[in-house]
Amino acid sequence: MYDLWVNYPAVPAQQAAVAEALRGLAADPEALPAGFGPPPGDPRVRTALAPMLGVNPGHALALTCGGQSALSVALLAALGAANPARQRIAVEAFTFPQARNFMRLEGIPTVGLPMDSEGLQPEALERLLAFPDPPGVLYLMPVLHNPLGLTYSAARLERIAAIARCHGLWVVEDEAYAFLAAPEQRPPTLASLIPERTLVMWSLSKMLSLSLRLGALSHPPALAGAVADQIRMRGLTANPVIAAAAAVLAADGRGVQVMAEKRAEGERRRALARDILGAHRFAADPGASWHIWMHRPADEAEAAFLARAREAGVSIAPAVHFHHADREAPLFRLSLGGEADPARLEAGLKILAKVLGE
Ligand SMILES: Cc1ncc(COP(=O)(O)O)c(C=O)c1O
Repeated sequence: MYDLWVNYPAVPAQQAAVAEALRGLAADPEALPAGFGPPPGDPRVRTALAPMLGVNPGHALALTCGGQSALSVALLAALGAANPARQRIAVEAFTFPQARNFMRLEGIPTVGLPMDSEGLQPEALERLLAFPDPPGVLYLMPVLHNPLGLTYSAARLERIAAIARCHGLWVVEDEAYAFLAAPEQRPPTLASLIPERTLVMWSLSKMLSLSLRLGALSHPPALAGAVADQIRMRGLTANPVIAAAAAVLAADGRGVQVMAEKRAEGERRRALARDILGAHRFAADPGASWHIWMHRPADEAEAAFLARAREAGVSIAPAVHFHHADREAPLFRLSLGGEADPARLEAGLKILAKVLGE
């Protein structure tokens, strides 16, 4: 089976970099952390990581044992800060499945917002906020959205920031894939537009290596107590050795180098997908993404299409997996990171082309 489902962006150089950072820590008893420090992590480690993440000046940084944990903490801290009568979270129509699952698990009601090629539609957000029971938190992925791959325009983000400020909305900004966009090609963060109302999450597992299993969130300093409480109560403190290794990679520049390699490899993989499948199949502009939102034959049920793909030997992620209300759509997410070997990726894409009737 060719894996066109997993969208983790990996390059060979990342493991050598992680191994060297860990070897350095193991060889130096002074550098090897002897404890885990405060719940959000060792302040020196956080200071070393902040520039690589691009933490907004004035925000505080906390580390967690993975991106998903960072996102959970950010969502809960944002809800805690929101008006008690507004304990609902607005999400994009297509959203990160584990965020949706987490909210369900916690019994947090959600409401989906329609999207267009520039992101969620601000008019729909404004209409929602005019209801008698408006949500208090908005969760979104403005840069290299998962699963659509699209990036919000600066104008769209400015509009959303203005609405959030006007309506007292808290914002959780998911930057999981944003590092794949060249800094000069990405729009400003919501954290830079409305720092007082935004929490940001990152996955260092994606930026550097899955073997680090490390996440981070930044937040207005006033939420430091709430963030630390969530990390402590839920046992989400980052492993201190792993955090120190990530700080080594951030400080010596190898982290930035690994991310640049991931960008270049992504470009090669997207070119392959474009050549084999044709850009007319792309349902959204993938920009610098390692995943592409794709059209599939509209006259076929989702389950039948998936079964056909599986039988042919490729696994792909269906639209229903991402829809906030589990709805089918004639779309799917193609991921270019499931096969480490580009030759296997090419073989899988050729099979997919046949499944799509190319
Ligand atoms: C959009 C998005 N946010 C957050 C995460 C969580 O990151 P991690 O894998 O580090 O837990 C993911 C992981 O797939 C993701 O796709």
